[in-house]
Amino acid sequence: KTSPKPSAHVAVKSYACQRRSPLNHHNTFLTEPLEILAENAEFMENEGRNIAFRRSASVLKALPRVVRRMEDLKNLPCLGGHSLRVIKEILEDGASQEVETTKQSEQFQAMKALTGVFGVGVKSADRWFREGLRNPSDLIRTGQKLNHTQQAGVRYYNDLNKPVTKKEAEAISDMVGKAVRAVLPGAILTLTGGFRRGKEVGHDVDFLITHPEEGAEEGMMPKVLKWLEDQGLLLYQKTTRNSYLESRDGPERAPHHMDRFERCFSIFKLEQTKECSGTTAGAAGMSEQQSGPSWRAVRVDLVVSPYSQFAYATLGWTGSKLFERDLRRWAGQERGMSLSNHALYDSKRHHYLHASSEEEIFTHLGLEYIPPSERNA
Ligand code: GTP
Ligand code: MN
Ligand code: MN
Repeated sequence: KTSPKPSAHVAVKSYACQRRSPLNHHNTFLTEPLEILAENAEFMENEGRNIAFRRSASVLKALPRVVRRMEDLKNLPCLGGHSLRVIKEILEDGASQEVETTKQSEQFQAMKALTGVFGVGVKSADRWFREGLRNPSDLIRTGQKLNHTQQAGVRYYNDLNKPVTKKEAEAISDMVGKAVRAVLPGAILTLTGGFRRGKEVGHDVDFLITHPEEGAEEGMMPKVLKWLEDQGLLLYQKTTRNSYLESRDGPERAPHHMDRFERCFSIFKLEQTKECSGTTAGAAGMSEQQSGPSWRAVRVDLVVSPYSQFAYATLGWTGSKLFERDLRRWAGQERGMSLSNHALYDSKRHHYLHASSEEEIFTHLGLEYIPPSERNA
């Protein structure tokens, strides 16, 4: 068995949904700086630049080995001039000046802190930054008008910015599973988002709920929430009846049965075991109790989907965001189809394509199946 020659170039496809992107890859030293620049572009509301840096980083995640020289990047798609300059600097000097300056900048740090509040988007954060505010305490101190979501975001700021572990996700999963089955026997609960892709930690826990009997899932969300509320497990919840017609990427015409999508942004109260609470929180001075809090707040996203759309919903809520974006772009640009979290519409043949599994959707799209663990684009 011979190892590949140093000059051997790997072929990398240009859509993220055509590539395998494992969770652990070989070029974090390049992707992290590029993603800092992407995030900064997002803060500046420069969507083109944001996506360009995200795509560059994503391509590097799919490489089978570490990038050592600029020649290793020959023939790779999606790498623009700006990204290449940043990469070159890191390869030659160990760091990029632009990235270091960005990380140190008052604006980047303030935007990071302010958008780190649940319910605060780039627009509000930017307005507050221009008014001289820098962090969540400034919002309180200056008596800013906050909506209910933002109030909860500020109240639980520390907890919500602490990564959620897989163990905590499993504990939440048990709670939600109990609620769902109590409310509707036979209901199915699936973990989606980053944890389904194999991540060890996340910023929230994402779930998708359905029932094999079409229509039985209707009206489930309020009942599940009431059950959780009665158990004292909910700190905050906001349900939106997500009309299919409102979704940005959906086909123009949507049949009536598409209007049932319900989602809930929530904050759970998770009881902590002794090893998890105690010392660290106490040392950080976050609690009035000497032993540290006995619970923590965790962001949870709940989505209810009719069984007929379950495969599409599962695919749409598993991510990553760039993988999803490229799936929809592939569908539109390469297949003349329109993909949403509900359905796949063939714009040329004027019909919807049914799918009962993610594999079938990839087949409809003419793509090789990529399992969740390799959708970390
Ligand atoms: P972490 O939570 O940070 O660990 O990563 P994640 O990949 O789980 O991110 P997130 O929970 O933000 O999103 C999970 C999936 O849900 C992604 O595929 C998103 O595209 C999708 N998603 C998140 N928010 C929305 C939303 O508001 N609308 C729709 N349609 N999809 C969303
Ligand atoms: Mn998530
Ligand atoms: Mn989420």
